[in-house]
Amino acid sequence: MKNDIERVFFTEEEIEAKVKELGEQISKDFEGKDPLFVGVLKGCFVFMSDLMRHVTIPCSVDFMAVSSYKGTTSTGAVSIQKDLSQNIEGRHVVMVEDILDSGVTLSYLQNYLSGRKPASITIATLMDKPSRRKAPVYAKYSCFEVPDAFVVGYGLDYNELYRNLPYIGVLKPEIYSDQEDVIN
Ligand code: IMP
Ligand code: MG
Repeated sequence: MKNDIERVFFTEEEIEAKVKELGEQISKDFEGKDPLFVGVLKGCFVFMSDLMRHVTIPCSVDFMAVSSYKGTTSTGAVSIQKDLSQNIEGRHVVMVEDILDSGVTLSYLQNYLSGRKPASITIATLMDKPSRRKAPVYAKYSCFEVPDAFVVGYGLDYNELYRNLPYIGVLKPEIYSDQEDVIN
C-alpha cells in the first residue's frame, strides 16, 4: 500500500497538531452551546474520531451518509443514504467533512439541514481545495488547503482503498484509472 504513494502531503504529526488546534478552537467558540457534530460518512470517520477527542465541552455526535454523483455535468447530484437520527431544531450543528472539493455535497447538505431550523450550521473540514469550487460554501474551519490533486489516506479513499493510511498523500499516476463517478 505504501508503495502506491507518490508523495506525502501531510504527515501523521502535522495532521495531529492541526486537528488538536481545531478541537481546542471549536471548544472555545462553542462553549455553552452544546454543539451537535454531524460527520459526513465515510470520509470523515478518522478525522472526526481524532477531532472529538480534542473537544473539551459537552457535545453530541451524529452521522449522515451521502453519495455524490460526479459525471460531466457541472452541478452533480447528491442523494442521502443515511439521515440524522435526531431533531436538530435550535441546535448548533457543526458539519464535519474530510475534504471540500466542488462544494456540491456540503452546499446541498447545508440547504437540506437548514430547513430543519437549527440555531446555526458551521462547517469544519480537514482539507479544502478552493480552486475546484463550483457551489458556494464557506468553511469556517479548515485544517489544510490543498491544490487540485486527488488525495488519499486518513479516511479518504480511492475506490474504497487507502482510508487506513495514517497520513495524507497522492498516489502514483499509474494507480489512478478512469475518473470514478461515484464518490462518498
Ligand atoms: P464535493 O461535493 O465536490 O465538495 O466533494 C465532496 C466529497 O468528494 C468529499 O467529501 C470526498 O469524500 C470526495 N473527495 C473529493 N476530493 C477528494 C480527494 O481528493 N480524495 C478523496 N476523496 C475526495
Ligand atoms: Mg466526504
